[in-house]
Amino acid sequence: MSKLVISNLSKIYNDGSYQTTVLNGLTFTASKSSLTAITGKSGSGKTTLLNLISGIDKPTGGEIIFNDKVINNSDSLTQFADFGFVFQFHYLISTLTIEENILIAAEIKNLPTKQARLRLHDFAAQLGINDKLKQYPFQLSGGERQRAAVIRAIINEPSLVLMDEPTGNLDQDNSIKLQELLMDLMHQQESVFIVATHDMAFAGRADQVIAL
Ligand SMILES: Nc1ncnc2c1ncn2[C@@H]1O[C@H](COP(=O)(O)OP(=O)(O)O)[C@@H](O)[C@H]1O
Ligand SMILES: [Mg+2]
Repeated sequence: MSKLVISNLSKIYNDGSYQTTVLNGLTFTASKSSLTAITGKSGSGKTTLLNLISGIDKPTGGEIIFNDKVINNSDSLTQFADFGFVFQFHYLISTLTIEENILIAAEIKNLPTKQARLRLHDFAAQLGINDKLKQYPFQLSGGERQRAAVIRAIINEPSLVLMDEPTGNLDQDNSIKLQELLMDLMHQQESVFIVATHDMAFAGRADQVIAL
């Protein structure tokens, strides 16, 4: 059963002249089919925490344990590929259409194309970007790109989904549609969902709130 354990995690950025302590002894557990909201003002360490969990960055101390395996002292990104990440900035590939950007993630995981397309069209319709799939990222608004990045992250049903301010560029209506989709997935899939968000209404729907 999927479970993420964050144990006594700390992160100190050291740029030579001075040190910034961002996380200091953070501990929490997130179980499958549950949503954990990471809240806190700008600069409180939300993105840092997601970068540590995904293996993009290394903690100064403590442990990150997923399904009973310590993942922070190996190259988690390569050893543990079963997660989806929505970055604060979308990182869609500019030379691919929205559909190609999303399906490339499915190909990496060898998800059958037919099944991936069905999921893609279903999610795109729910999030209101089904008429944008043949377009390129530059032709979309910030909010549309953000929704495309969310679909790319969840297309493979990863067991760990990390999202950094996924509703940051969305109006309230689209924010609620995205929240509804995530809530549906959370009940259908046995995944752990971790979402950094400023949006207190969104955080209020989470199973637990970690305030940094
Ligand atoms: N690579 C880095 N080097 C030094 N300080 C950093 C680095 N990345 C982030 N920080 C600092 O860590 C703190 C937390 O940043 P961040 O995790 O981006 O916060 P949030 O996502 O909550 O806005 C900030 O004070 C930021 O300046
Ligand atoms: Mg951030």
